[in-house]
Amino acid sequence: MTFVVTDNCIRCKYTDCVEVCPVDCFYEGPNFLVIHPDECIDCALCEPECPAGAIFSEDEVPSGMEDYIQLNAELAEVWHNLAEKKDPLPDAAEWDGKTDKLQFLEK
Ligand code: SF4
Ligand code: F3S
Repeated sequence: MTFVVTDNCIRCKYTDCVEVCPVDCFYEGPNFLVIHPDECIDCALCEPECPAGAIFSEDEVPSGMEDYIQLNAELAEVWHNLAEKKDPLPDAAEWDGKTDKLQFLEK
């Protein structure tokens, strides 16, 4: 089991989640963050920390967002590790809550 970062993180990337992860298993891209499924210990600490509500347990990923499970696994292999909180993206507040943001994902 793993936790998964989903749609509403894109273009927000608040990074509150990385601060609480005991195993530092978050990986960062230009406008999105992912969790490495083989490193996540399923502790659930990150889920309530995300201001955007973008993190779900693998078995509770909302309908229509299932592709994010594979996307987290793929991108965690190529992006760099992020273990400390940083500033959110400049337009985070504007993008928080918008839907269908996958089209804006930068890899
Ligand atoms: Fe890290 Fe725990 Fe979140 Fe997994 S569930 S990403 S181990 S904080
Ligand atoms: Fe993204 Fe939420 Fe973390 S917006 S960077 S999953 S705190």
